[in-house]
Amino acid sequence: MEDFILEAKNVSYAYEEGEGMALRDVSLAFRRGELTAVLGHNGSGKSTLAKLLNGLYVPTAGTVAVCGMDTALDEHTWEIRQAAGMVFQNPDNQLVASIVRDDVAFGLENIGVPSDEMPGRVEAALRDVGMLDFIDRAPHTLSGGQKQRIAIAGILAMRPKALILDEATAMLDPKGRQEVFSVVERLNREQGITVVWITHFMEEAARCRRVVVMDQGRCVMDGTPGEVFTQSEKLRAMRLDVPPMVALGDLLRARGLKISREAMDVETMAGEVLQCR
Ligand SMILES: Nc1ncnc2c1ncn2[C@@H]1O[C@H](COP(=O)(O)OP(=O)(O)OP(=O)(O)O)[C@@H](O)[C@H]1O
Ligand SMILES: [Mg+2]
Repeated sequence: MEDFILEAKNVSYAYEEGEGMALRDVSLAFRRGELTAVLGHNGSGKSTLAKLLNGLYVPTAGTVAVCGMDTALDEHTWEIRQAAGMVFQNPDNQLVASIVRDDVAFGLENIGVPSDEMPGRVEAALRDVGMLDFIDRAPHTLSGGQKQRIAIAGILAMRPKALILDEATAMLDPKGRQEVFSVVERLNREQGITVVWITHFMEEAARCRRVVVMDQGRCVMDGTPGEVFTQSEKLRAMRLDVPPMVALGDLLRARGLKISREAMDVETMAGEVLQCR
């Protein structure tokens, strides 16, 4: 059996009976330790997919399994929420307590973790997101990026197998974006947490190992950043951009420079350009 953490099989979803489908026959599986970006124009079904992947929604047709547990069965609800944590766009809507420590502990109370185990788990989770020094602070005094890291710590404390982040950096400034993405990338690398990173930022997608593209409720592309971003015409037809370095590479090649198609981030591109001197 494959080691799938999140698995959607032939999933369709309609918000209202008789309405159009927000997702149409989507089959996607995410293995242990994968770091996947999900792209797609507004309304393409990314958030719907996210909420199906952690059991907030149940498919209209098809099945979703989290660590092999069918999300349509009520008996698994808590285990599924614990295994697949979700981070949303707005940092201010996710923090519930007036002190960081209590906020991170909140989910643990819900899943019945013994109280003597809580402080250790809370501190470890805050350390993992680089926020341990802020344990006694009030969340409202933190920056957006710091608040998102606290939200991530609250999930980490529950020892999840997967993190699903739905445009977690959309409301942040560039520094906050960078800091949240780096934390998630490190958690993926060091702890093997499966990450589904929904984003509109192409430069973030270029840093993931797998890129999935949604269009009108369907999964239309699925591959490495190299495989997906070299199809710039197809992406533009879906009203998506390519990462800035991919666009630059296209331009430089058109002017006759020998630039590898694999150059998708600033460092690699700088190396390629220097080789042309
Ligand atoms: N609560 C809802 N009730 C009815 N229809 C909805 C609801 N939420 C989303 N939809 C519809 O479902 C489809 C997919 O929406 P979804 O929010 O999943 O897209 P998205 O890719 O996350 O978009 P965005 O980039 O704007 O966040 C759209 O047609 C949208 O209008
Ligand atoms: Mg959305």
